[in-house]
Amino acid sequence: MKSEDKFKALQNQEVIQFIEDNLNTSIPKLILKGSPFETINIQYLVDQIIGRNKAKKKLPTWFKNKNIIYPPKLNLEQTSSEITAHHKSQFISGKYLIDLTGGFGVDDFYLSKKIPQLTYTESNEDLFEIAKYNFNSLASENIKCLQVNSIEYLAQNDFKYDWIYIDPSRRNQNKKVFLLQDSSPNVLEHQELLKNTSYNLMIKTSPMYDIEMGYKELCGIKELHVISIKNEVKELLWIIDWRTNNSRSIKLFNYDSQNIYTLQEVKDIASEHKDVALSECKAYLYEFNSSIMKSGFYDYFANKYNLKKLEKHTNLYTSDVVVNNFPGKSFVVEAKSSIHFKQLKKEYKGKFVNLMSKNMKISTEAIQKKLNCKTGGKSDYLIFAKTLEGNKVLKATKI
Ligand SMILES: C[S@@+](CC[C@H](N)C(=O)[O-])C[C@H]1O[C@@H](n2cnc3c(N)ncnc32)[C@H](O)[C@@H]1O
Repeated sequence: MKSEDKFKALQNQEVIQFIEDNLNTSIPKLILKGSPFETINIQYLVDQIIGRNKAKKKLPTWFKNKNIIYPPKLNLEQTSSEITAHHKSQFISGKYLIDLTGGFGVDDFYLSKKIPQLTYTESNEDLFEIAKYNFNSLASENIKCLQVNSIEYLAQNDFKYDWIYIDPSRRNQNKKVFLLQDSSPNVLEHQELLKNTSYNLMIKTSPMYDIEMGYKELCGIKELHVISIKNEVKELLWIIDWRTNNSRSIKLFNYDSQNIYTLQEVKDIASEHKDVALSECKAYLYEFNSSIMKSGFYDYFANKYNLKKLEKHTNLYTSDVVVNNFPGKSFVVEAKSSIHFKQLKKEYKGKFVNLMSKNMKISTEAIQKKLNCKTGGKSDYLIFAKTLEGNKVLKATKI
């Protein structure tokens, strides 16, 4: 069956209703039962059900549109979220952009709102057909779709783009990878080609990719964006302008679920970076957000906010006075004591409390087992940490 016919079959009202009715049905059960439709096999239906469920939070625009076709789960896991795709579109301008790793097309949907002529390329035929079809359903008219090996295409065509975008595939023989050299295409191998065919380049890398390694491996870095959503780092975005030398301009974005972000910036920190003072725990306790933690500049920010650190390798900070609008979690410290698990168990058995373990050998899972407590709740925390006074448990309330 041709892709186009398959997609049309999936858009029959009865099929759409079947997918809606089974969003919460167990997948193994569905597979066992088989497809109720003669022309559509059960795997395609299951892909749509899994896809719609995944899209609900990550891709609300796709979820709202019932004509969207979803690829298998593995392809969907690699897409950007709408928040991070929109983020990228805020930093580009010009006329021509080529995406060398189009995938499900989430980034291109947003980038095409800022660029009049966008070229989407994808080597996987099935994924290419799906993205092309969906661009049509989403009324994205200025996207030219090419099913090619983008590196070969770039090498064969004598054209210089305003922007090249690349979000290399982080799967290698079904294993997850995060180094640029292991991703596909290998950006490091093709830097010269990318440089000759673009004025600017945007590279998305894994949150696991080491920032210092990036500054060593890549050239022309104008800005690095560390992008977190709800305090979890999702992407590192390397913005390259081939005319510049590497610049230590790092922007740390933390989005909430409403697409609103806080931003901290680090510029040329070498001259300002000094050690942070250590102190015993005072009235307030702080943990920086995930973007600041990923950047490695937590001590730099601690000095900026006049905070002291609990111990050299314990990334928790303290002060006598409260810091308003702190970029991360802030707590009022209610009590500080040595760690006696038996006593704590008496107090917390069966109760809800949030657990943290900082610079300690014991994990929060192991602590939970020892206390026999439930984890969660709005603001009560038990923070186990190595401090200047030894290992302590801090009872704290999140502000
Ligand atoms: C991480 S995904 C991209 C996801 C995309 N940014 C999105 O938001 O949907 C990477 C994609 O690049 C494709 N790819 C890898 N190497 C390629 C190449 N040389 N030419 C074209 N596509 C390639 C893979 O098939 C995969 O679909």
